[in-house]
Amino acid sequence: MSTPVGHDHAVTDLPRHYADAPAERERLLRSPHGRLEFLRTRELVRARLTGAVRVLDVGGGTGVHARWLAEDGHAVHLVDVVPSHVAEAARLPGVTASVGDARHLAEPDGSVDVVLLLGPLYHLVSADDRARALAEARRVLRAGGLLVAAAISRYLSVLETGTSGVLGPDLLGPVAGVIATGRYDGHVGFTETHWHTAGELADEVAAAGFGDVAVHGVEGPAWPALDVAGIDEFDARVAAALHCARLVDQDPLLVNASAHLLAFAHA
Ligand SMILES: C[S@@+](CC[C@H](N)C(=O)[O-])C[C@H]1O[C@@H](n2cnc3c(N)ncnc32)[C@H](O)[C@@H]1O
Repeated sequence: MSTPVGHDHAVTDLPRHYADAPAERERLLRSPHGRLEFLRTRELVRARLTGAVRVLDVGGGTGVHARWLAEDGHAVHLVDVVPSHVAEAARLPGVTASVGDARHLAEPDGSVDVVLLLGPLYHLVSADDRARALAEARRVLRAGGLLVAAAISRYLSVLETGTSGVLGPDLLGPVAGVIATGRYDGHVGFTETHWHTAGELADEVAAAGFGDVAVHGVEGPAWPALDVAGIDEFDARVAAALHCARLVDQDPLLVNASAHLLAFAHA
């Protein structure tokens, strides 16, 4: 399958963007919202896994989720475009890993029970590339297998900058732009990416042929307040933030207030 050259820098630049593998490994430990993202992603995914299953963790990074999945008894293979991430993940007990691209997976048709796509859908800035990644996920899943696909909410930067005090005239244009278009230019850090609405994510997953599509908010509406309170307040506030996230995680009026969205669907 050929690759459109115009958008491919978003993927070919990733080894440089993620050159510091330990920084990515610690991403979900450093900030209150990162810790909340990890806890909620794990609880949402874990709730859907029954018995030991074959998991393909596509865009799995350094293996932050592969680690607990293997500890839970699942057979985990991780694929990522960044070689240093793959090398780190391959050292985890019970995890195998290889360099690869979500758009062209090496796995045979129908060979896994679960595909995690927790990263590629926001890094793939072209809709065609996201459709390819979803089609590949569907191809490698057995009939009835589970897709778990993560997206970044379009409302992340308005919530982050508006609550942290940095939203001023210079940022109004970029923040409004990503809300309107989904094209994120890096104005609050990270790299050029595509940010979704919950409806857009559901539509892309359904268009790839998946059924039973359900989109959940990951962190819930309290995540910016946790960041403002700071890491030392995390333990005191996390239980309330988790209750808040669980109460409204499929509420159509609040789902986009999470920083990340998770789509669940069946092949
Ligand atoms: C922010 S990290 C997330 C890592 C981990 N899945 C997590 O949820 O914490 C995004 C990961 O997706 C990987 N990635 C992005 N586009 C990809 C692609 N087309 N194929 C494979 N991996 C990709 C990146 O290299 C990076 O390791």
